[in-house]
Amino acid sequence: MTTSDLTTRYIVPSYGRFPLALARGEGTRVWDENGREYLDFGAGIAVCSLGHCHPVITRALQEQAGILIHTSNLYHTRPQGLLAKHLVEKVMGGQGGKIFFANSGAEANEGLYKLARKFGHSRPTALGTPRTEIITCLESFHGRTLAGIAATGQPKFRDGFAPDMPGFRYVPYNDADALRAAVSDQTAAILFEVIQGEGGIRPVTPAFAREALELREQHDLLIMFDDVQAGLGRTGDLRSWHSVLPPADRFEPDAVSWAKGLGGGFPIGAFWASERAVDDRPLCDLLGPGTHASTFGGTPLGSAVSLAVLEEIERAGLCDHALQMGQHIRQSIAGWEIPCLSEVRGQGLMLGFDLDPSAVQDTAGLAGCQGRACLLATQKLMSAGLLTVPSGERVVRLLPPLNVSAADVDAALSILRDVLTSL
Ligand SMILES: Cc1ncc(COP(=O)(O)O)c(C=O)c1O
Repeated sequence: MTTSDLTTRYIVPSYGRFPLALARGEGTRVWDENGREYLDFGAGIAVCSLGHCHPVITRALQEQAGILIHTSNLYHTRPQGLLAKHLVEKVMGGQGGKIFFANSGAEANEGLYKLARKFGHSRPTALGTPRTEIITCLESFHGRTLAGIAATGQPKFRDGFAPDMPGFRYVPYNDADALRAAVSDQTAAILFEVIQGEGGIRPVTPAFAREALELREQHDLLIMFDDVQAGLGRTGDLRSWHSVLPPADRFEPDAVSWAKGLGGGFPIGAFWASERAVDDRPLCDLLGPGTHASTFGGTPLGSAVSLAVLEEIERAGLCDHALQMGQHIRQSIAGWEIPCLSEVRGQGLMLGFDLDPSAVQDTAGLAGCQGRACLLATQKLMSAGLLTVPSGERVVRLLPPLNVSAADVDAALSILRDVLTSL
């Protein structure tokens, strides 16, 4: 049986997959089962921040696997404590707060929803009823659990899964007036991505962020950032909002979620909550003993690997490198004249190439991809040896490892230019 036959026969068909079976990876390269080499500019959808099989990850995995792989959270473990310390002190910049560990982005966000609900119960309406609503954005993506698809402002993800989980209200992303109009006495929190990833690589505008900040002060709300895809260096800063918002508009949220790049390929998620005072306690202590848990949250193995990844990002200066490579890509493409390429958006190594389907010449190919220009481009790029990730209808994402070399960037851009020109 071929690998794709095994998938078809034995795996629930919930994923649309490309006809490619990957067997091995090293750095920015992966190889298929026939030994063909590809440049991997998808990196597991922004996960493999150090590339494939980085020696730092392999060593941390091997060493910790020989010491202690798992205990329950009934006990303390040093790797978990040290990872939390790094996230609080190095990533969040010493402003205090605490960490909860989970396994994935959806699960990290699940913790944010529960934190917001607890907050809304602690700070009820004038009638004494809890505030239970979280405002999120249209075109957002927050994960595939039932609460995740309810938080996600894209109805297609909720199709066939009714009844929707209540407690979410959507506003158009970057529409500051709509955000203000949506706040009611029920609102407990505002949650958004600093750069929408699945929504087509769209950064938040300073005006929208400013409005959220004003509403936080006026209505006693939480601001929560989903940094699952954009966080931990991908945009050129460990805190994506520091690279997206200009200094004058920069502020710190009340809570942040992470996953993807946090483990560099090892599954781990987390959220941070601030020390903002909520009655007699800081926000980060609202979820007290027994209120939230995860069997695999912050295992010694996952924590040791994640700490090794974060230390390597710091040691090798990968935030600055991501920023420089992003600038290098933008400078390289500045002179391109490709009819179907309408815009390049994003920051650092989280970039989206927006393709205009009406300017695509390959109409047969487009028809075969249900009109999705990004799917056609992604397939052709794959055939030419470059792996990228489609987003929505028209955006091709470049999400290479943070330590990608300038030579590999140039090789990828050369393929990209040829393929986009041929469309
Ligand atoms: C911004 C954002 N939040 C949450 C998620 C869900 O993460 P996971 O697939 O690990 O549950 C994703 C996944 O793409 C994401 O991009």
